[in-house]
Amino acid sequence: MSPSTGRAPVVQIRAHVSAPPSEVFPVLWGEFSSSLLQRGWLIDGEPGGKLRSAEKRSPKWGSADVKRWDPPHEVEIVWKQDAAGAGPPPRLVLRCGAEGSGTTILVEHSGGTGLRREPREEQELGWWTNEVLAPLLLSIAPARLIEWADDRWGRRPSGPSSSAFYKEPIYHLPGFHAILEGLALRKDDVLLEVGCGGGSLLKRALATGCSAAGVDHSADMLKVASRQNARALAAGHLQLRYGDAAALPFPSERFTCAAMSGVLPWLPDPVSAFREVFRTLRPGGRFVVWTGSPKMYGTPAAGPRRKGGVRLYEDSVVARFARRAGFSNVRIDHPDLRPIAKAVGVPGPSRYLFGPEYGGFLWARRD
Ligand SMILES: C[S@@+](CC[C@H](N)C(=O)[O-])C[C@H]1O[C@@H](n2cnc3c(N)ncnc32)[C@H](O)[C@@H]1O
Repeated sequence: MSPSTGRAPVVQIRAHVSAPPSEVFPVLWGEFSSSLLQRGWLIDGEPGGKLRSAEKRSPKWGSADVKRWDPPHEVEIVWKQDAAGAGPPPRLVLRCGAEGSGTTILVEHSGGTGLRREPREEQELGWWTNEVLAPLLLSIAPARLIEWADDRWGRRPSGPSSSAFYKEPIYHLPGFHAILEGLALRKDDVLLEVGCGGGSLLKRALATGCSAAGVDHSADMLKVASRQNARALAAGHLQLRYGDAAALPFPSERFTCAAMSGVLPWLPDPVSAFREVFRTLRPGGRFVVWTGSPKMYGTPAAGPRRKGGVRLYEDSVVARFARRAGFSNVRIDHPDLRPIAKAVGVPGPSRYLFGPEYGGFLWARRD
């Protein structure tokens, strides 16, 4: 870092990955652009592209230009200097250099900070410490890294491996079977799936001829769900919405039935989410939730019980959530899904997780 000149690099990050640039760059860029999107920014990966606010109203921080687009080697992004700025505009260069059979990624901020207030050195050192150093230290706290991995895998899946998994989530297929068998969908049903992930349950549900809607708070999952249900979307049989389980973006009494698979363990406030489902169901509407069981703690399906991780509840607790949300006819069953797990190709050593003591399903009705 060289805060006094304003011209030399002020942030440099170097990382080594054991894959060639041609494999590293697309993943890096995909992650980078979707992470920017989560923060409300769109970036074009093309010559002359732009980084701009995703909200049309008042782009708070202006915009930047993709000055150089040379994948998989180098990308250069330069912020437009606004009237308050001084000195050369800040720029970020992202370089992927082949090193042996791997890649060295170099990220370099240059062009100065543009800060003018004196003493400038103190301002720049303060910016670097507050905005770069302290967040970096907190981001590598072991608990934060685990929380990040939980988010990426289950709470709000993102990235290429989650997208590939949730397209056809083999470990959820036995649950889908139980849900669809229990719901016995008809053509006049309108199903809501909360936390629809990659849309695999929706795809199976739509095959019965019903119509459906899915909501999820992961942009990556909605992309997968849209792709694999493109026909139903185009035909108007399916609606997909970005949103939160506790504030469903649907009018009251819209659906005849609702389902949640693999979502309950991630909800900070299950009763609020169940109340929203109750509101959006028509009278007589049925509701099914895959509940899991605390017996799953310590297994590969849930990992150790820990603060902020997945939450698995006893049957009586889940039933209470449903009654508090207004549901009646509440019951929980524990079917033995091991034969289905075998039939859909779940590997032998994992099939015990589909035994009756692990998987639970809440069934409830809005009267
Ligand atoms: C473990 S995945 C299950 C996906 C899918 N239902 C399945 O069974 O394959 C959990 C899904 O719920 C979504 N989710 C979790 N909490 C949510 C919330 N509060 N609002 C909306 N979606 C949520 C996640 O983004 C993710 O797609």
